[in-house]
Amino acid sequence: MRNIAVMVSGGGTNLQALIDAEKAGKIPHGKITLVVASNDSAYALERAKNNGIETVVVKRKAYENQDAFDDAIVETLHAHHIDMVVLAGYLSILGETVIQAYRDRIINIHPSLIPSFCGKGFYGLKVHEAALARGVKVTGATVHLVNEIPDGGRILKQKAVYIEDGDTAETLQRRVMEQAEWILLPEACEDIAKQLDEGEDK
Ligand code: GRF
Repeated sequence: MRNIAVMVSGGGTNLQALIDAEKAGKIPHGKITLVVASNDSAYALERAKNNGIETVVVKRKAYENQDAFDDAIVETLHAHHIDMVVLAGYLSILGETVIQAYRDRIINIHPSLIPSFCGKGFYGLKVHEAALARGVKVTGATVHLVNEIPDGGRILKQKAVYIEDGDTAETLQRRVMEQAEWILLPEACEDIAKQLDEGEDK
């Protein structure tokens, strides 16, 4: 059984999907034991507390530079004996120190079919606004390993979602969440936890 930390910044619907999946027995090799938020107003913190999950807030602006922030993140994860990390709507940058400490053990959900509409500046609604502006007919979500390149790590899972006439960024975001993100993230989380638990080569 692996200890999972979920890192959040916003509403926490992906965290909720993970909590619900764990309760439904869909993540048998992992247990969400910590939620790390980048700010203290994230509703994701309420979701964690409602489910008895320990929470901690680590704010980037409380540290003088990226290295100090990274050290605080690694110390927090180690103090809670975390084996793997899930970024679920997390908006702070994780530097080299964190990536190295959890090489191939950090996964992220991105709301497009990488390599489209990803990288610096593509997050949240902006991703869907870009997809609608480009006029793509199909978008979706991607779960990938996190490395030093924003949204550049190995792709683990993807799921396509069709754009519908009259879609706004908000209606599209909701559909991508419902039809892709909330399905893929728990699946990928279990896959990595299982690999770690069984010591399999990735
Ligand atoms: C959403 O845009 C989602 O696509 C992305 O992060 C944002 C917030 O997600 N992964 P959540 O509701 O906080 O999980």
